[in-house]
Amino acid sequence: MALKEQQRGGFTSRMGFILAAAGSAIGLGNIWRFPYTAGENGGAAFILVYLIFVVFLCLPALFAELAIGRATGKSPVGAFKALAPESLWKFVGGLGVFTGFAILAFYSVVAGWVLGYLGKALAGHFSAGMDIATSSEQFTALITSKGLSIGLTGGFLLLTALVVRGGIQGGIERASKILMPIFFVLLVGLAIRSVTLEGASAGLYFLFAVDLSKLTIPVVAGALGQAFFSLSLGMGAMITYGSYVGKEARLPGAAVAVAFFDTLIAMLAGLIIFPALFAKGGGAQVTGGEGLVFTVLPTIFHELPAGFLFAVAFYVLLGIAALTSTISLLEVVVSYFVDEQGWTRERSTWVVSFACFLLSIPSATNVSFLALQNTIFGKYALSIGALLISLFVGWKWGVRPALAEIEGGRPMPFGRLWAFLIRYVCPLAIVVVIVAVILGIST
Ligand code: TRP
Repeated sequence: MALKEQQRGGFTSRMGFILAAAGSAIGLGNIWRFPYTAGENGGAAFILVYLIFVVFLCLPALFAELAIGRATGKSPVGAFKALAPESLWKFVGGLGVFTGFAILAFYSVVAGWVLGYLGKALAGHFSAGMDIATSSEQFTALITSKGLSIGLTGGFLLLTALVVRGGIQGGIERASKILMPIFFVLLVGLAIRSVTLEGASAGLYFLFAVDLSKLTIPVVAGALGQAFFSLSLGMGAMITYGSYVGKEARLPGAAVAVAFFDTLIAMLAGLIIFPALFAKGGGAQVTGGEGLVFTVLPTIFHELPAGFLFAVAFYVLLGIAALTSTISLLEVVVSYFVDEQGWTRERSTWVVSFACFLLSIPSATNVSFLALQNTIFGKYALSIGALLISLFVGWKWGVRPALAEIEGGRPMPFGRLWAFLIRYVCPLAIVVVIVAVILGIST
């Protein structure tokens, strides 16, 4: 292995890659962003479109990003330079790096709230019988304590930096192997409790009774952005992770597994939040935005056996799920400066993290700013990034070399379908949605 490669490191096994990619995908996007976005967009119809997008747009895009990464062994900017030298495509990589930086700046604010809620859980702030209104006041109190918010955000960024600085093979890969299954079990427990609450059926109705008249352009655009966000697509995180995968690992099965678990966890989050929200009489808050998950959960922990422990474990594990996501965001930016600017990993990590901390302050002190940043970068920049990446693979690099890279000598089923989706369906669908948004078409 060349020295340069040793510096970059790589996953030790296919399993290591699956864990890291699933770790990147599964995070606040599933537990925090999916439920409130579904809530704001009317529920079932949004979820239906979301699922269609995961299968027909995101899965092909995930294959595409992984192929670019593994074929080149480089992070986004370098990867585009390698596959399309002397062209403007490297700016797509640059857009991705910037998008990752901007997402990290608001994502770590929400991750900071998780730390804050861990503190509340430890201090026993969630009393049995707490209602939605009281819980909602607690949330507002947290996010309006500016100093605290900034501190928690900075704390979370620091944790992320400590991991990224050590390179990607650190203990986190091993730890998440044990912790994520535990998290999954907790989520299943919460979901069972939530759907068996009295009055839960209104929430199930909201989740599953599809009303196609609710399917407006903003709803579709929301589902598009959420699907890319949840799978960490559209800015090169999966290019970067693909670059760390060995040539011998089989990608298709790994990619499908990652998409499947990510989607399953988002659905579980929906099954936890909405039945509980309606059962607790908070149905009117369904469109209430960023605070939804933080408001609902404290009202149900004490309806479970060992509620105190349950709550503490939940926030610890959610924090770790968020950490494996912030790691992937920071990793993209850090590896840009390492690979393209020749910085050391150490220097790159600290400089980028500190800059990110500065950019996070407006979001940490003002939820409207957070929401704006979330919309611009977490929705539109990712959708445009995914559009450009699918155009690149479909029309510039070519579906043949990309498919050869994905297949690694073992032809996969649906290879031709994949080529069709990445060439035509992905770009067209994204363009149609974005143009409709720009034209202000609302139905
Ligand atoms: N997918 C993560 C989540 O759902 C967030 C995330 C991590 C992300 N890396 C990303 C989103 C890259 C977009 C692009 O929580």
